[in-house]
Amino acid sequence: MRSFYSNIRIPQAGLFSGMSYQTLLLETRDGIAFLTINRPDKLNALNDLVVSELHQAALAIKADASVRGVILTGSGPKAFVAGADIGDLAKQGVIDGRARALNGQQMLFAFERLGKPVLAAVNGFALGGGCELAMACHIRICSENARFGQPEVNLGITPGYGGTQRLPRIVGKGNALYLLLSAEHVNAPDALRMGLVSRVVPQDQLLAEAEKLMKTIVAKGPVALALTIDAVDRGLETSLEEGMRIEADAFGLVASTSDMKEGLTAFLEKRAAKFEGK
Ligand code: COA
Repeated sequence: MRSFYSNIRIPQAGLFSGMSYQTLLLETRDGIAFLTINRPDKLNALNDLVVSELHQAALAIKADASVRGVILTGSGPKAFVAGADIGDLAKQGVIDGRARALNGQQMLFAFERLGKPVLAAVNGFALGGGCELAMACHIRICSENARFGQPEVNLGITPGYGGTQRLPRIVGKGNALYLLLSAEHVNAPDALRMGLVSRVVPQDQLLAEAEKLMKTIVAKGPVALALTIDAVDRGLETSLEEGMRIEADAFGLVASTSDMKEGLTAFLEKRAAKFEGK
């Protein structure tokens, strides 16, 4: 079984500051990394370069102690990500098709197992690989114009980046099969009703709302955040009993942190806690 410790590295500050990407924009403010997929003319479709750069960016962010949370979004007013790049898919055979799926899945695991909260700010179409990318994030909020869907069967293909696996875990089997078999695009209120997103906000407020939410999250104890994400993800893959043990282990482990001491002391002293992630 994957261990929580695989999410914990000894990070160094400012590791990714010198990195540049062809398909991504990456900036940090107040400990939050803003990562934007930047292919608006192709509705931010995930070609192989985008997948590879997203993976590199995830690893760089993970290693950078100065970053405590990530906001992932798409460039332009129309799309978060309109799917895997259909041009790439049109050229693939059995071996490279399978390899492409596995490679994309590893990139998504890199975000899911970042050890820091990742929020998808879905600003338009989140179709196929776009919906799958959003689902690998820990929290999803979207703008009123967002559209979600897994339209792969329209193309005679199956999802490759987790659509058949994360979608039923998030919205339940019935809603997942509805989306996967109908290929329907659902609007933001329907996505909210299904539990695919947690909030819908006006388009011009999406990034500000995402930042506001992430600022409240990154002010909390980083070790507690990492352990909570890990307990939820690992707990979902096991029995209730085993999940409870994972939770108890985390509860015990935080007792060894100076963050716990600081959090409890700050409450008793009626002041804001200052967590160091230790
Ligand atoms: N892969 C590659 N290119 C894509 C793409 C994708 N998944 N989705 C959109 N694009 C490209 C279009 O080909 C077009 O490029 P062009 O201007 O060079 O012709 C550009 O992005 C704009 O898209 P367009 O289709 O003109 O916009 P629209 O507003 O008419 O339609 C969508 C928007 C999202 C409904 C439509 O683009 C679409 O259905 N995309 C594919 C969605 C999909 O099946 N995703 C799953 C893939 S597995």
